[in-house]
Amino acid sequence: MTRRETGVLVVAAAVAALAAFPLLAGGGKAPAGKPAATGIFPYEKFEDDATCAGCHEEIAAQHARGMMSRSFTHGWDEVEYFRLALPHALKEAKVAGVKAGCMGCHAPLAFLAGDIPPKPVAEKTRANDGVACTVCHSITGFTGDTPFNFNWTIAPGEAMQGTRPGVKSPHHGIAVNPFLGTAEFCGTCHNEKDPWGQWVKATHLEWKESPYGKRGIVCQDCHMTRTEGNPAPDAGGAMHADMRTHLFFGAHTKARLEGAVEVELVPAPATARPGDTIIVQANVINQKAGHMIPTGSAEERVVWLHVEAIDSTGKVFHLPVDRKGFEGEDYTISSPGTLAYQDLGEIMGLADFQGLERDGDVPAGDRIYRLPYLDPKGRMTVAQWNTKSFGPDYRLPPLTAVPETFTWKLPKDVAPGPVTIRATVWYSKLVSSVARFLEVPEDEARPVKMAETVATITVGD
Ligand code: HEC
Ligand code: HEC
Ligand code: HEC
Ligand code: HEC
Ligand code: HEC
Repeated sequence: MTRRETGVLVVAAAVAALAAFPLLAGGGKAPAGKPAATGIFPYEKFEDDATCAGCHEEIAAQHARGMMSRSFTHGWDEVEYFRLALPHALKEAKVAGVKAGCMGCHAPLAFLAGDIPPKPVAEKTRANDGVACTVCHSITGFTGDTPFNFNWTIAPGEAMQGTRPGVKSPHHGIAVNPFLGTAEFCGTCHNEKDPWGQWVKATHLEWKESPYGKRGIVCQDCHMTRTEGNPAPDAGGAMHADMRTHLFFGAHTKARLEGAVEVELVPAPATARPGDTIIVQANVINQKAGHMIPTGSAEERVVWLHVEAIDSTGKVFHLPVDRKGFEGEDYTISSPGTLAYQDLGEIMGLADFQGLERDGDVPAGDRIYRLPYLDPKGRMTVAQWNTKSFGPDYRLPPLTAVPETFTWKLPKDVAPGPVTIRATVWYSKLVSSVARFLEVPEDEARPVKMAETVATITVGD
């Protein structure tokens, strides 16, 4: 049986379980839920997070710190929707669908209420609630075979969908629904097909192909780690040894990025003289993520490997990566002066816009782990909805060593004694040139060090 079929069976089993078991703690059957569509449920159908926080204080505090509670209000999201996607949707028929489509995942309450486009953040409508408690806890399942583009079904107001049998709430019914414990649940928003039919987000699909997917280690295991606790201590809740946390940390949490990748370094030979050639082998390994690094918004993330040698006097020599010779490799080696993102000019109506530095501030010759998103004219883009094709997928697959070599002919001016070779893997959430151009807060582009290691060789005279 193929993996795809297995995945479908798991979902089918979950759905069968849904139908077979008594669901609401107070008796009765969980409603099947309606497929997501605009205008089917007014805002009032959904209680707000503050109400939930009254009893679920700790979970609410965690959720408030994560990105999903800010999926509409977060500065860069607001810029991308209101300054790029929405104006583009209004003037270009091909991408008209993203006017509502972006909101299906980023402001589901506004989408369901038909409040499209939502008012800007400052107007404080309930679009601002983002992926609220009641969004996830009203999702009952999904339509079709593959979760993507918010193809969930939803039944707000009746009962909270959960996974734990035997617990009771004074405030709401509880529908025990194994679907919430599956990766497919997350996949409904973490896989995305754009108007050109391209998978511009495929975190769940990547996961499914990974060793974690094959072993059934789901998103929740890493992003909602279990802890001992009581989800509602002052409202009659019970202690559990395995309460689900709601931090959902990802690329916006430095601690999550640090150590997610490892780099191994082997320079050979261990001793050499000026004029000799050293080959430095570096393996970059995605040790902790259950999907590619970068995943999801890969169109705007930049992950790169920088290698340098420091001689005994402190002089620094930058080592450019050796070419492997695969098709499209140029996209994966930093080349200052190379312009991209020209579609921003067309989207924003700027005459004579030449584009922006493709690789931001990444030093020349460094290896970049990326999936180039290409616009209808074949140029790199950060507008995922404007992606018609892709360049080579040169990202870091889970638990796989990606080897690089750096051939270094020792220059005449390298000092005798120990030479330290240092390899560093950096992560930037948004290409710095784009961040500056759109005046997105500095923090979005600030590089975070994911991994660093050193090795030493000796230079004889
Ligand atoms: C008056 C207090 C109260 C309020 C308000 C409240 N809950 Fe609960 N909720 C509880 C209690 C008590 C439990 C049972 C906890 C336990 O014993 O594990 C619970 C359980 C849950 C569960 C767990 C279901 C399971 O079996 O996995 C979910 C999900 C949930 N609540 C969501 C919400 C959401 C979302 C809101 C806001 C719309 C909310 N709750 C508001 C008291 C409350
Ligand atoms: C992105 C979706 C998502 C959001 C947003 C979300 N939850 Fe959950 N929550 C889940 C999932 C999934 C589970 C069950 C995980 C499992 O069992 O594998 C869960 C479990 C719970 C539980 C049961 C915890 C336990 O282990 O007993 C409670 C209570 C709960 N959520 C309340 C809330 C409240 C309150 C909010 C808002 C402050 C919230 N959730 C926001 C997805 C979400
Ligand atoms: C209703 C749609 C929806 C569902 C369901 C959903 N997500 Fe998300 N998730 C989002 C959106 C939208 C964002 C982007 C937030 C932003 O704008 O930065 C996001 C962001 C994240 C992030 C990124 C945080 C960061 O720091 O970059 C993580 C991790 C995450 N989700 C995990 C999960 C997991 C695990 C599940 C399943 C238990 C899940 N999500 C289910 C919509 C959803
Ligand atoms: C084995 C643990 C593990 C599993 C399983 C896992 N993740 Fe992650 N995830 C991570 C780590 C570590 C990071 C931080 C590194 C990074 O950002 O790529 C991360 C990052 C993320 C991010 C942030 C990426 C970004 O660029 O903002 C999202 C979103 C996310 N995961 C969603 C998911 C979803 C959805 C699933 C299930 C389909 C999942 N993860 C499965 C460990 C895991
Ligand atoms: C199918 C659900 C879905 C749709 C549709 C969707 N997004 Fe997202 N978006 C996400 C998720 C999930 C993430 C976080 C994924 C990650 O970073 O790995 C995200 C991340 C982002 C980010 C980056 C956030 C950050 O802090 O880095 C921006 C900006 C964004 N989306 C804007 C948009 C716009 C604009 C549209 C419409 C053209 C859109 N999204 C459509 C689910 C969606």
